[in-house]
Amino acid sequence: MNKIFVTRKIPERGIGALKKAGFAVEVNPDDKVLSKDELVAWLKKGSYDAVFCLLTDKIDADVFAAAGKQCKIFANYAVGFDNIDLAAAKSAGMMVSNTPGVLTDTVAEHTFALMLAIAHRVAEADKFAKAGKYHGWEPMMLLGTDLSYKTVGILGLGRIGSRVAYHAAKGFNAKVIYYDVKRNEEFEKEMVDLKGSPQAIFCETPELLLSQADFVSIHVPLLPATRHLIDASRLKMMKPTAYLINTSRGPIVDEKALAEALENNIIKGAAIDVFENEPAIELGLIGLDNVILTPHIASATEETRSKMAELAAENIIAALSGQLPPNLVK
Ligand code: GLV
Ligand code: GLV
Repeated sequence: MNKIFVTRKIPERGIGALKKAGFAVEVNPDDKVLSKDELVAWLKKGSYDAVFCLLTDKIDADVFAAAGKQCKIFANYAVGFDNIDLAAAKSAGMMVSNTPGVLTDTVAEHTFALMLAIAHRVAEADKFAKAGKYHGWEPMMLLGTDLSYKTVGILGLGRIGSRVAYHAAKGFNAKVIYYDVKRNEEFEKEMVDLKGSPQAIFCETPELLLSQADFVSIHVPLLPATRHLIDASRLKMMKPTAYLINTSRGPIVDEKALAEALENNIIKGAAIDVFENEPAIELGLIGLDNVILTPHIASATEETRSKMAELAAENIIAALSGQLPPNLVK
């Protein structure tokens, strides 16, 4: 019987799918991230045929070696896979899969939750009301900024970036500008208003986008080339009235530089779900009112986490029945 190790408690649908396929499933009994040594010890002891892992697990050559030759796949419970050393996976002959698609709507929704919350000062207003400071309606109280008819800049037009672009244009009549390593003319053709005017415009460089956008939303994967894509100098290129939203990966933004930019009103505000050194959060951000922080929950809905668990399980099932996993990462 094939044995699967799950590095942390996940939604039942994932476990159920693996059991239904006839696998023996062992789940890390402690509801915490395993250290690398702990993970290596589990894998050496267990001789598993597949590992269901999380974005909080750092998977490298040592981990693959500990998993052993009988192990076919590491199925990552995330769309991002920057936690896995793909070159090491290749040398170890290990397959790696991710969970694209099923979380696109949810992450796009969370992006808007953040965008609207920072622009409409929702967190500040909530704190204000709960502190008993509301003594009557005031014409100038807690004034925010509209998203409608503004320019939304999308860095990275993948699945999530294009969904955010779509909602921004179709739902909020925003003008969308985007930067990506490649232009997407198909997408541009779909993104026209009722009069046929373009609603999505390609920017040749990130700089062009940063200087024009009222909202900048990041949707690129974490790669050597995207680390600190947003640093102090790029923050200075943004409008002083602009907001930065990040639901991708923390290290894409220089978090210290962001805290300084927010403190000095270089930009108007930021709303971020991901951090440079998770779970640590740059202390400079904590005391600021012009930033909203959520703890890496952009895909965290009941529906989506179940679908992600099921999809990761499907990848394992395919790999162990000699097929290519549907979401094999190359
Ligand atoms: C979450 O951050 C993911 O990559 O799925
Ligand atoms: C991830 O799903 C992306 O392509 O944006």
